[in-house]
Amino acid sequence: MGGARGYAGRDREGRRMGGAPNEALDRGLAPVDTSASRPREGPRGDSGHSARVEMKDVIYLDNAATSFPKPDAVHDTMRDFYRDCGVNPGRTGCDLALAAEEMIHGTRRKLSRFFNAGLIGAGGAKDPNRLVFTLNATMSLNLVINGLVHAGDHVVTTMLEHNSVIRPVNHKVRDGAEATFVRPDGEGYIDPADIGRTIRPNTKLVIVNHGSNVTGVVQDLGAIGAVCARAGVPLAVDTAQTAGVIPIDMHACRISFLAFTGHKGLFGPTGTGGLCVADDAEIEGTVYGGTGVRSAVPYHLTEYPYRLEAGTQNLAGIAGLSAGLDWIERRGIDEIRRHEIGLLAELQAGLEGIDGVRIHGTRRLESRVATMSFTIEGYDPSDVGTILDVDYGIQTRTGLQCAPLIHEHHGTTPRGTVRASLGPFNTSEQIRTMIGAVAEVAADRRAAVPAGR
Ligand SMILES: Cc1ncc(COP(=O)(O)O)c(C=O)c1O
Repeated sequence: MGGARGYAGRDREGRRMGGAPNEALDRGLAPVDTSASRPREGPRGDSGHSARVEMKDVIYLDNAATSFPKPDAVHDTMRDFYRDCGVNPGRTGCDLALAAEEMIHGTRRKLSRFFNAGLIGAGGAKDPNRLVFTLNATMSLNLVINGLVHAGDHVVTTMLEHNSVIRPVNHKVRDGAEATFVRPDGEGYIDPADIGRTIRPNTKLVIVNHGSNVTGVVQDLGAIGAVCARAGVPLAVDTAQTAGVIPIDMHACRISFLAFTGHKGLFGPTGTGGLCVADDAEIEGTVYGGTGVRSAVPYHLTEYPYRLEAGTQNLAGIAGLSAGLDWIERRGIDEIRRHEIGLLAELQAGLEGIDGVRIHGTRRLESRVATMSFTIEGYDPSDVGTILDVDYGIQTRTGLQCAPLIHEHHGTTPRGTVRASLGPFNTSEQIRTMIGAVAEVAADRRAAVPAGR
């Protein structure tokens, strides 16, 4: 579409305007050097020169896709781990392998405690091996769905799900299972009683999204867990958007399976994630291979963590994930959340005041993560995303964001929305730049398209 030129997103020298993404957390948190201001080598253009992307000029509002930048401690820990001890644990008894094993085990312990996974007994002495590492939330969710649901079984899930639940469930339905996708209310909240009403004698699993990657709406896990516990059906939760962002108590919410990703709110690198399996939950392993122990056994081991882990782990990634978790604990999860929700409030108030802008889904600030979806009248969302990127250096995510059913619910199918998702390194200045950019884009369209067309 036209109109992508001429917005005041650059200064006279053609530099993009807006604050640096790695500025210190404003509102009282200490500065962090995240290295994101260093120029990054980009792909080579036709000229044969390396294109350089000045990361300090980018306003990154796509933290729901992956958090960026990562704290320096994450990069440093990964580099140090690979340099000093990057060998395969469990395969030999040498000192380096034992150190790698201790790093993995320590991270299991830390994450188990973080989610109050019900793996740690009073005094914290219980073995945390029922927390297994995977490459991402998608793999964790596949482990749960493939390990529990068979032909003839019924699954209850919701219209808020990401394709990493919708698609594996649909594959099960194609293979003879049944599924119910519970519809939320107009804001996007699920009534836990609706989950109870859909449970049948053959329901093997309830699987729900905790925080929506489209609108930020956060479900009441305590109430949903109570309904599932009363019905005797295991509850699995997709915490891709909430792990590290909102405290989650797996034990109190009676969650049987908690799937998390490492590269979003936990500030780990990509290629990290995991699944916590409650003490009383049963699941079959569906990935088989080497474990480094008891190699003569012809079938895959059934004890944890091997039951759900096979092959070499992403060691440097897990070390980085551990550093991300430490960083959150140093900053304080509540303090990070206060910062992000404060910025969301500013953004929402600013966008609500612009003619032609429509926010989709909940506007509540509580029971929400700092993610919002909007459209501008007369624009295709993907064009808005391109203009924000090219003319203002603002990175958002457009389209259906891998969650088509919630778009159907909010009436934003098939073109989707523009999604802004905030992180701890965003600043008020950046939010003001975003509001100004959206106002200019909306005004330009109104000037270009006479009313009524
Ligand atoms: C709600 C939700 N679930 C699952 C996923 C998949 O996460 P991963 O990239 O770790 O597989 C995402 C990623 O965007 C998500 O937002």
